[in-house]
Amino acid sequence: MDDLSLYILDISENCIDAGAKNIEIIINEDTKKDILIIEINDDGKGIDEDMIKLIQNPFTTSRTTRKVGLGIPFFKEAAESCEGKFSISSAKGIGTKVKATFKHSHIDRKPMGDIAETLIALILRAEKTEILYYHKRNGKDFTFRTKDLKLQLKVKDLKQVMLLNSLKKIVKQKISELQ
Ligand SMILES: Nc1ncnc2c1ncn2[C@@H]1O[C@H](COP(=O)(O)OP(=O)(O)OP(=O)(O)O)[C@@H](O)[C@H]1O
Ligand SMILES: [Mg+2]
Repeated sequence: MDDLSLYILDISENCIDAGAKNIEIIINEDTKKDILIIEINDDGKGIDEDMIKLIQNPFTTSRTTRKVGLGIPFFKEAAESCEGKFSISSAKGIGTKVKATFKHSHIDRKPMGDIAETLIALILRAEKTEILYYHKRNGKDFTFRTKDLKLQLKVKDLKQVMLLNSLKKIVKQKISELQ
């Protein structure tokens, strides 16, 4: 996997699969402190304490006894290979928090990639999940909330081709303005 936007997509898809009503994707870039933080929080069904350890390592269980996914181990590996840290915490019935930090300038730090594309993919996949995207970079920030946009446009869902196309353009533009 190449871009961080694809890791974010994978981790957020876990939230949708967990029945989350809300997903928060929070990105914080500080080039002075040389740090990039990505947080993905949900209010889905949560993960058992004993599962938490297991899912961080793709090699602890053989695939014949249970499916062990790769989304979480890959994200963890991406952060840790950039002098960063990874954590996942969860409470059954309350939700899950995933946090990855990276040394911003690390040579192996993957590029952010196409966040707008990731958000559109999530909107298309999420039936009943509201998404909050908050991106801060060196003091400037950008917030996008599916809930607010629906209210503003007076629509029940955002799954219309024309709407998604203009949304993609706006999100791309807003994120590029953070640079
Ligand atoms: N936010 C979450 N809420 C509840 N359960 C989760 C969450 N994230 C992960 N899990 C559990 O951890 C497992 C492992 O997640 P991971 O993303 O590593 O793999 P996967 O989603 O099963 O497969 P892959 O991502 O490789 O397609 C999931 O199958 C799910 O049971
Ligand atoms: Mg996954």
